[in-house]
Amino acid sequence: MSLVHIEISHFRNLQQVSLQPAAKLNIITGENAAGKTNLLESLHYLSFARSFRTAQTRDLIMYQQPFFRLIGKLQHPSATLGIQKSSQEQIIRINQQTVNRSADLAAMFPVVAIHPDSHQLISAGPEYRRQYLDWGVFHVEHHYLQVWKDFRTALSQRNAALRHNQPDTLCCLWDQALVEAAQRMEIMRLDYLEKLALSLDKIRPLLFPEAELALEYRPGWQSEAGYQAYLAASLYKDKEKGFTQGGPHRADLRIKLDNKPVQSAISRGQQKKLVAMLKLAQMDVFSQHSDKTCVLLYDDLPAELDTVNRNKLLKLLSKLPVQVFISAIEANQLDLSGWSDMKMFHVKHGEVDALD
Ligand SMILES: Nc1ncnc2c1ncn2[C@@H]1O[C@H](COP(=O)(O)OP(=O)(O)OP(=O)(O)O)[C@@H](O)[C@H]1O
Ligand SMILES: [Mg+2]
Repeated sequence: MSLVHIEISHFRNLQQVSLQPAAKLNIITGENAAGKTNLLESLHYLSFARSFRTAQTRDLIMYQQPFFRLIGKLQHPSATLGIQKSSQEQIIRINQQTVNRSADLAAMFPVVAIHPDSHQLISAGPEYRRQYLDWGVFHVEHHYLQVWKDFRTALSQRNAALRHNQPDTLCCLWDQALVEAAQRMEIMRLDYLEKLALSLDKIRPLLFPEAELALEYRPGWQSEAGYQAYLAASLYKDKEKGFTQGGPHRADLRIKLDNKPVQSAISRGQQKKLVAMLKLAQMDVFSQHSDKTCVLLYDDLPAELDTVNRNKLLKLLSKLPVQVFISAIEANQLDLSGWSDMKMFHVKHGEVDALD
């Protein structure tokens, strides 16, 4: 499966763009402010129904326009995905049928993005690492989304009871459902992390030779006696705060390189390299457990890594069964030997031309 056609209307400065990407590598070049990141952002939107740069829909709709529309055609198996977004509504269509869940898009069109803010996966709060982890589990464990939703439902019911200072018996009514969902989430997350560790073992020697990498799951709560006992013991504190303080919704990944926490012990450039490695490993796990093809969006690769690491990364990527979109000011910043199926696109003032 790969993206064979994309039609973009009124997305940022991309007024009307239609392109047919290569199944393996696509290079997007153009000067500053041409619209390269916008193009990658539109592909991200078609998978996640959200941007990696803004939470505001009005930023994404071309100025003076009522909505933007994205239509993507996939092949093997063939499918058409569409999303139309105005500030009032969002319409998602898969094969001409309207669907309510944006997760259906992500399931059919899995996208991983690396962009100038991706170091947040390491430098910022645990929600970034949970998102990373959950993306991986979602694509490998087909029940994960349902279990995650069961957990969120029980959590919001418990939180509502806590907030309204309901009697203890009512607050605890949801504990059983929470505990069951939390256990299942944890099993799936840990199982996924084992798979991820195997892929990281394969990739790490090229990017971080000699270094020892450790990924440790922090469950987001602590008790020798289990989550049920934890919830019972924290009931009064939770009532004071008005929400459930501990659980898988507070989980984190502790990442250590040579036994040092990566948040503080390595340079920004190394953080970027580490993020790229974590995402590559995630795509490797994905490709082993799915018959779909994952799409990688790499925004401004030359600005992210030095020449040596950039070339190592391109080499690793050429061996993964993924469809890649890389943006760069100029193509000569990239060593593209080793890639056969490749297309180049040039962006200028929001217009995209395929180059020979
Ligand atoms: N809603 C919008 N409507 C129209 N144009 C927009 C909108 N949002 C952003 N733009 C324009 O998009 C352009 C920026 O595009 P983009 O960020 O994709 O550039 P880029 O090619 O990635 O540049 P760089 O190399 O600097 O990263 C700017 O000219 C900006 O004014
Ligand atoms: Mg850009």
